[in-house]
Amino acid sequence: MADLPRLPFERTSVLEISSAYGTLRAREPIARVRTRTGDEAWLVTGYEQARAIFADERFGRSHPDPDHAPRVSNSALTGGPNGEYATEKEVHDRMRRLLAPAFSARRMQALSGHVQELVDDLLDRMEEHGPPADLHASLSVPLPIQVICELLGVPLADRDHFRAIAEEMTDLTDPDRSAAARTAMEEYSHGIVKTKRDHPGEDVYSDLARADVPDDEIATMAGGLLFAGHETTVNRIDAGVVLLLDNPEQLEALKRDPALAPAAVEEIMRIGAPNDHGLGRYAREDVEVDGVTIRAGELCVIMISAANRDDTVFVEPERFDLGREVQPHLGFGYAIRYCLGASLARVELRAVFGSLFQRFPDLRLAVPLDGLPERSERLTGGFAALPVTW
Ligand code: HEM
Repeated sequence: MADLPRLPFERTSVLEISSAYGTLRAREPIARVRTRTGDEAWLVTGYEQARAIFADERFGRSHPDPDHAPRVSNSALTGGPNGEYATEKEVHDRMRRLLAPAFSARRMQALSGHVQELVDDLLDRMEEHGPPADLHASLSVPLPIQVICELLGVPLADRDHFRAIAEEMTDLTDPDRSAAARTAMEEYSHGIVKTKRDHPGEDVYSDLARADVPDDEIATMAGGLLFAGHETTVNRIDAGVVLLLDNPEQLEALKRDPALAPAAVEEIMRIGAPNDHGLGRYAREDVEVDGVTIRAGELCVIMISAANRDDTVFVEPERFDLGREVQPHLGFGYAIRYCLGASLARVELRAVFGSLFQRFPDLRLAVPLDGLPERSERLTGGFAALPVTW
């Protein structure tokens, strides 16, 4: 008997995902596969099925027997069970209650003028420096780092230190290495939170310092925010630039009308897939989804990038199109664990894509697309550099 399909499915280009996802989805939107670790799991490629699982509290990220649970990968971050089985919901509710107000759409919108200034500054420096440039190092990395440092109250001078830890955290090959890096990130961040007890400021870490929440939870939240708060956004900026350059008609439309930036951002969130990892969820009891019975303890790997190309929801899903009317993509997840930083990420991405090609209308890649250095074997994927010229 043939063995199950095994992840990751091979991709032919950094801008595409494997066609195997679509083939599988047409037949079985929830299909039995083997993960990178050889464990059996349910691969979810259908949009409705992904939403159903995201929204169903009978699925979670923890597992009653974490040492023997099936895994998505060897990442210590999202490769396997996370959190305590008995307290997952309670701890998660506490985290959302504590942090959601600080990241509300209204609070983030109020930041947009300042974020625009930061983008303008970085673009000024790029212009002064002249072509060619590494856009990754000149814009995609420094912008989210500066924004998250200001918002959390983390010293910008520490950026090289926590960037190096974040880089180790994304390791997909050695669970001990990513686990040690996660601990280092939590210890570093918790240290900063503790300094806020004596020297509070107007920032999120000062809110955490005042919160009546167990210390280990504070450390997890602080470390998680600093990591999630920049790593993902960096890769989306890079991915967006490459996608736009690869779709000259859509790029022309954006150059003519920078008010299309929000539409460009949503399309980048839908179709950009800097990594091919998938989000894990464990069934807490036997659950039937779309006719498939997922047994208690089994793993679902939700492949957002595949769900975002489901042709029952998106017309011509492979096309990068700023004119889409229907845009309910799952790029920030969905429901209970919908990305806490979605409004912040949108503010940053809109400022970037509303300005970059206005300032550099002739911007183009300085190397062929398939020559871009990929960050392989990294949880968040993306590029190590993005050489451009103009
Ligand atoms: C474009 C950039 C971003 C992308 C693509 C992204 C994507 C996601 C996704 C897909 C999830 C859901 C994970 C799951 O369901 O298991 C998530 C959750 C989360 N994101 Fe983001 N994110 C981005 C930016 C940010 C930023 C800037 C922050 C900073 C605050 C942030 C903080 C979080 C947190 C704390 C969660 C966990 C929410 C929970 O468990 O309730 N993200 N993000």
